[in-house]
Amino acid sequence: MTSIGIHDLSVATAHYVVDLTELAEAAGVPPQKYLTGLGQEAMSFPAPDEDIVTMGAAAALPILERHGTERIRTVLFATESGIDQSKAAGVFVHKLLGLPSGVRVVELKQACYSGTAALQMAAGIVARDPREQVLLIMSDVARYQLDTPGEPTQGAAAAAMLVSADPALLELEPTTGIHTADVNDFWRPNDSTTAMVDGGLSLRAYLASLMGAWDDFHARGGAGFHTIERFVYHQPFTKMAQKAHARLSQHTSHAVSPNALKGSLDYNRLLGNSYTASLYVGLAAMLDNSDDLAGRRVGLFSYGSGSVGEFFTGIVQPDYAQHRRREATLAALEARRPLDIEGYRALHSAHTESSQDRETPRVTSGPFRFSGIQGQARQYEAN
Ligand code: CAA
Repeated sequence: MTSIGIHDLSVATAHYVVDLTELAEAAGVPPQKYLTGLGQEAMSFPAPDEDIVTMGAAAALPILERHGTERIRTVLFATESGIDQSKAAGVFVHKLLGLPSGVRVVELKQACYSGTAALQMAAGIVARDPREQVLLIMSDVARYQLDTPGEPTQGAAAAAMLVSADPALLELEPTTGIHTADVNDFWRPNDSTTAMVDGGLSLRAYLASLMGAWDDFHARGGAGFHTIERFVYHQPFTKMAQKAHARLSQHTSHAVSPNALKGSLDYNRLLGNSYTASLYVGLAAMLDNSDDLAGRRVGLFSYGSGSVGEFFTGIVQPDYAQHRRREATLAALEARRPLDIEGYRALHSAHTESSQDRETPRVTSGPFRFSGIQGQARQYEAN
């Protein structure tokens, strides 16, 4: 059988970074609540001329520079923070990246889960014709209202991956476990720029979904818990991954291994929640921060509120260390400009999803920018 999986994986983030110690002090909250209680140090925040399209294109660009475009026939764009009710954000990316016209483009939505749906669909496309590759982009800006419990769990990032036969990073194993349940734990109505959330319910729904997905995985003959070397979880905040792993270990009657999450929290701790991208930013961090994973099995849990969860596994490929992008991701984190709390609150309050014509100020130093709205249509350009 053809081996199919993740051939390349690249991460991009936003122009600004907000320090959570400063946010806690401004809110009159002990900083340790955010740093230890949530496991978050900082959050990326977009400049006015950035959005899911500019971050998604920035994440995908290095993949095309390394592998070319010849085999790409599909672009799947997964997001919770869509910028149009009709047109797929990936069509803007298609133009910015100069992709050929013989490429289908579509957007997928189910809160933070849709990137994983896209990955499974991509694997199906490649199975049908292993000459084809799928460019998969997950990109999100996590926005909650100011002065709410969700505020310190905001963030912004994109992950792009190339799904192909004979992958260089991670071969996907075919068995997956799925759990869908109608829950109002987190959602974003069409007329709101920020998410609605029932925080306590969202934690319980996440854990229930993990147990349900694991049980389905197990019932379908998935790999045994003890054969999985590392675990990567969707990370709305990094402490959630620790809670999830403790609960799954208990559920399967195993002790919590201290190395199970090694490396996988390192980027999300600094970026914040990136919804669809979060799990795959976690995977990139784990691969980047461990040199001993060749041939090892990794378990991944994807959760999207509302809710859909999926547990699946993959085998890290022998030469993965030569194909990862550690330096580029660290450089993107380092390049962010600090934003003080006053500036952050002003930008947060000024954010609008209005389609009124306007020009955006030139701020971002990323490769692409959202230049404004003309005739109610969004405009993008190379920077
Ligand atoms: N020092 C150290 N730790 C402290 C502390 C201090 N001074 N004060 C509090 N803490 C700890 C608390 O004990 C708690 O840890 P435990 O849960 O391990 O006990 C942690 O800090 C958080 O404290 P609270 O539970 O009191 O925090 P809160 O109620 O103010 O908000 C939250 C927490 C509900 C997660 C909130 O941030 C939120 O609503 N976030 C958005 C929703 C979310 O991320 N849900 C996650 C599951 S849903 C999902 O995964 C989809 C998605 O991406 C959104």
